[in-house]
Amino acid sequence: MRLKDKVALVTGGSRGIGAEIVKTFSKEGATVYLNYNNNESKARSISEIYNNVKLIKADVSQREQVSKMIEYIKEDIGFLDILVNNAGIMLNMPILEYDEAKVRKMFDVNLFGTIYTTIESAKIMREGSSIINIASNAGIGTSFMNTTYYSLTKAAVINFTKRVALELANRKIRCNAIAPGWIETDLTIGARSREETEQLKKFLVENTTIGRWGSVEDVAKVALFLATEDSGYVNGQVIVVDGGRKDYLTHSI
Ligand SMILES: NC(=O)c1ccc[n+]([C@@H]2O[C@H](COP(=O)([O-])OP(=O)(O)OC[C@H]3O[C@@H](n4cnc5c(N)ncnc54)[C@H](OP(=O)(O)O)[C@@H]3O)[C@@H](O)[C@H]2O)c1
Repeated sequence: MRLKDKVALVTGGSRGIGAEIVKTFSKEGATVYLNYNNNESKARSISEIYNNVKLIKADVSQREQVSKMIEYIKEDIGFLDILVNNAGIMLNMPILEYDEAKVRKMFDVNLFGTIYTTIESAKIMREGSSIINIASNAGIGTSFMNTTYYSLTKAAVINFTKRVALELANRKIRCNAIAPGWIETDLTIGARSREETEQLKKFLVENTTIGRWGSVEDVAKVALFLATEDSGYVNGQVIVVDGGRKDYLTHSI
């Protein structure tokens, strides 16, 4: 039990990567607050099976809702040891078909959701806490078309990660990011037609050194590493979990 007596909050825990992180942390003995936005039934189906999973509804892009969520955790259990800023959306468009509302929505959830949840959670974090931001390899420089505006939100999350690591170090709070590659979830499948998805999978097999696309488990295992003291000397880093993709437009950020 690597997370015995630890208290975690996972945003966007009802589906995909977040749901797998909730399950992994629960199996390792943590009390896990599962934040969801729309999918209460999916969230409930996890809390019914996994131990010590508590549900909290909040839209992370709304600061007041985030503040109430952390107040609730404070009253319920008193503190946090682990925060996973996972909630996110991806709305694809070519650069020249810029859609203001969609771009702002992505920034609101992916970046501002991460900011709000981090600063509110920090109020109740104990020494030795770990913050894990789910960024994306899009934020570093992969070559997928039509994901530019999404990639900007994730590049900002990566920089935010490094700055939080710097400024919260005096409280012994670490902050790292995971930059997943293409993981099969509603986010990646839902945004594309079946034909596009099949083409993409073929591309990924050919352009990934490991020769396959990623699973939610691939990401959850790294989140577990970052949540524990096994990663106690890792701070302000971005761990890319993309199977060794070969199609980077640039390897820098
Ligand atoms: N899948 C990939 O290939 C991939 C690659 C790189 C990075 N990522 C990142 O990984 C994270 C999870 O992605 P995923 O693929 O697991 O997505 P997903 O299957 O679409 O799940 C998204 C989760 O985020 C929650 N969410 C969305 N908007 C929210 C809001 N405003 N407030 C609170 N929760 C909200 C959803 O909650 P409800 O369902 O309850 O509304 C859901 O639990 C995202 O940050 C994404 O950008 C994914």
